[in-house]
Amino acid sequence: MRVLITGHCGYIGPVMTRVFRKAGHEVTGYDTGYFREQIEDAPAECYPNHELKGDIRDIDESAFRGIDAVVHLAALSNDPIGDIVAAKTEAINGGGTARCGQMAKRAGVRRFVMASSCSLYGASGAAAGDLDESAPFAPVSAYAKSKVSGEAALQALADATFEPIMLRNATAYGVSPRTRLDLVLNNLMAYGYTTGVIRVLSDGTPWRPMVHIEDISRAALAAAQAPVGSLRHTVFNVGGIDCNYSVRQIAEVAAATLPNCKIEITGENGNDPRSYRVNFTRVLTELPGFAPQWNLEKGAVELRDWLQLHEPDPERLLGAKFIRLKRIQDLRAGNQIDADFRWTGARA
Ligand SMILES: NC(=O)c1ccc[n+]([C@@H]2O[C@H](COP(=O)([O-])OP(=O)(O)OC[C@H]3O[C@@H](n4cnc5c(N)ncnc54)[C@H](O)[C@@H]3O)[C@@H](O)[C@H]2O)c1
Repeated sequence: MRVLITGHCGYIGPVMTRVFRKAGHEVTGYDTGYFREQIEDAPAECYPNHELKGDIRDIDESAFRGIDAVVHLAALSNDPIGDIVAAKTEAINGGGTARCGQMAKRAGVRRFVMASSCSLYGASGAAAGDLDESAPFAPVSAYAKSKVSGEAALQALADATFEPIMLRNATAYGVSPRTRLDLVLNNLMAYGYTTGVIRVLSDGTPWRPMVHIEDISRAALAAAQAPVGSLRHTVFNVGGIDCNYSVRQIAEVAAATLPNCKIEITGENGNDPRSYRVNFTRVLTELPGFAPQWNLEKGAVELRDWLQLHEPDPERLLGAKFIRLKRIQDLRAGNQIDADFRWTGARA
C-alpha cells in the first residue's frame, strides 16, 4: 500500500514509519517540522520513502493523490502545550484533522486512521470502572477537547466511500529516534536517572492506561490494513492487557528499574482531575492482526538502557531536545514560529 503518515517527524512517527515500511508499505511523510532536526541515530526504515513539508491546516488534495491509507499523527500533542496555546491546539488538532479528512476523501482515499487519545475520557475517575468505547467523554485539557472535535469532524465525513478509524491511544511510553521525556513513565525515569529521586507532584492516585509506541504503531498498521467495510467497529481504545496503572504504581515500576532511586510523592500539585481506567477488550479481540508486545516493566528497562547512553545531566535531558513544550517555547522566543505557529523564515 501507499501510506501517508502525517506528523512523521515527531515521537511516534519514526517508529510508525519503521513498522509500516517493515510490513512492505511505501510511506510518504507530511510534517511541518517543529522537531525535525531533533533526531538521534535512526535506521533507514525510520525515514519515509518520500517526504512533504507542510502544515495540515493548509494541506490540499494533491498530498493524498494515489494514497491508499492515511495515518494521521500530526498534532500539538500534549497537555502542557495545549494549556498554553488552547486556541492553536484546537485549530491544528481539530481544524487540521477536519481538513486532512476532507482532502483525503476528495482525493479518493478510503481508509483514514486517526491517532486519537484516551485522554478524552479525562475526568471520568476510577469509580466509573474500565471505560469502553461507548463511555461518555469527559475531556479536561484543551488537548483532550481537540481530540473530541477531531474525531467528530472525521465521523461527519464517514460514508461508504470514506471509513475513518479512531484509535484512542493510551498514554505512550518507549524509546524512539525522537524520544520524549515529557510523558509520565519517560519523565519519571528521566528524573530518577538524573537526580536519584522520582518526584510525583500529584498525590499519585490518578489512573492512566499505558501503551508502548510500537504497539500504537502496530494497531495503526492493523487498522490501515483492514479492508474497508470489514470491521464491525471503527473506534478502538488502544492499549494492552492489564495496562491501567495509578501514577504511584508507574513510579514504583520506574524505581524498581533504576538503581538507587527513591520515590517522593509530594502532592504539591494537588489532586490531578485527569484520572481514567480503560477497557481494551475490543482492540484485543476485534482488530485483526493486532497483538501488543510490550508491558510497562519491559518498557522501563528499555528506557533505562537508553538513559544510560546519555549523561545524567538534567539540563540536557529535561531541555528542549526531549521536552516538547520547551522546544515550542524556544521556537516562539526565537521568532522562528509566529503566534499562529507558522514558520516565519527567521533562523535559530
Ligand atoms: N504520545 C502520546 O502519549 C500519545 C497518546 C495518545 C495519542 N497520541 C497522538 O499521537 C499523535 C503523535 O503523537 P507524538 O507523541 O508523536 O506527537 P509529537 O508532538 O512528538 O509529534 C507530532 C508531529 O506533528 C507535527 N505537527 C504539529 N502541528 C502540525 C501542523 N500544523 N502541520 C503539520 N505537522 C504538524 C509536529 O511537527 C510533530 O512532528 C498525536 O496526534 C497525538 O495526539 C499520542
